[in-house]
Amino acid sequence: MENMKDLEDKVIAEVNGAEDLKTLEDIRLSVFGKKGIITAEMKTLGAMDASARIEKAKQLNALKTTLENAMDIKKNILEAAALNEKLKAETIDVTLPCRPEIQGRIHPVSKIYEEVVAIFGELGFEVAEGPSIEDQFHNFNALNMPLNHPARQMQDTFYVAHDKNTPFEMENAYVVRTHTSGMQIRTMENKKPPIRIIAPGRTYRSDMDATHTPMFHQVEGLVIDKTTTLAHLKGCLYDFVKAFFELDEIPVRYRPSYFPFTEPSAEMDIGCLKTKTELKVGAGNDWLEILGCGMVHPNVLRAGGIDPDVYQGFAFGVGIDRLAMLKYGIPDLRTFFESDVRWLKNYGFAPLDFSSLTGGLNGNGGSLR
Ligand code: DAH
Repeated sequence: MENMKDLEDKVIAEVNGAEDLKTLEDIRLSVFGKKGIITAEMKTLGAMDASARIEKAKQLNALKTTLENAMDIKKNILEAAALNEKLKAETIDVTLPCRPEIQGRIHPVSKIYEEVVAIFGELGFEVAEGPSIEDQFHNFNALNMPLNHPARQMQDTFYVAHDKNTPFEMENAYVVRTHTSGMQIRTMENKKPPIRIIAPGRTYRSDMDATHTPMFHQVEGLVIDKTTTLAHLKGCLYDFVKAFFELDEIPVRYRPSYFPFTEPSAEMDIGCLKTKTELKVGAGNDWLEILGCGMVHPNVLRAGGIDPDVYQGFAFGVGIDRLAMLKYGIPDLRTFFESDVRWLKNYGFAPLDFSSLTGGLNGNGGSLR
């Protein structure tokens, strides 16, 4: 074998000169492969006498380590360069306008979400967002539903353990929020009146049929001020349904109802015409339940740190998926979340159609549905 130092210099020069991973691998094989130089040298050790063998083995091992290190370093450099090249080649200019005629649709739930935000935004509401995993204080207790309150049974709650080392206790467990109403409390905790917010978001209950899915969407509304009355609630929700269904007039009625967090409580119905094949909103002798609402219960204000002797307000809760089913005539809620692109192509919206009250809720360019 040539002088070890010469060999080392030669291989290192080759390694440094390698321009791609394939060349580097070839060099590695020529040194450490079955027929490689070092492999061949290792084989000669057996025939040597003991002291010479020890000496040579030492030198060979040192050389091996040096060359391996050099190859590793070069490999990292070449891999990083290859990755950079790849990333450069795959760069997408996200500022380019999308091409709606090709693919990609806005999901009806996102569309309704945008519409609701556009309408309430125009009415002076802010959007509040909160966590999906909620503690029972915000989801139940502070909403006038203490432990063992019968109304807790109205909602099939999913409970979430704190962590795997803590024994599960129903009373202390977290929940995945069963409604967005907990955002009433979170808002009051963070904001002083006057309050005017909507809180759209995901909600969860153990339920599954054509009109229920374990995950669904709601929008909560909360208004608190010194002189907020039931008349404001009615006016506000009337404006909302008119704008949402894009009608100048729409029959509405309020039925007395019960929610622990409001007093009085009501459900709002809108007039419609139901036939075997059609549901027409805004005319006819039938009624369709659309949302729950009421004046915020004094206990709820107290739990949120607001003095009920000074302030009062109203709240409401609407199912976004239900609004989408109604507005777009989609019969089965379960299909919303199956991620079937054919469904989305049929019921989805063109990405450039954004909702505004002035430009039209369904977008300026008209939808591609
Ligand atoms: N949280 C109720 C539910 O999930 C909906 C609701 C009803 C919200 C009345 C409200 C309200 O804020 O006032 O069924």
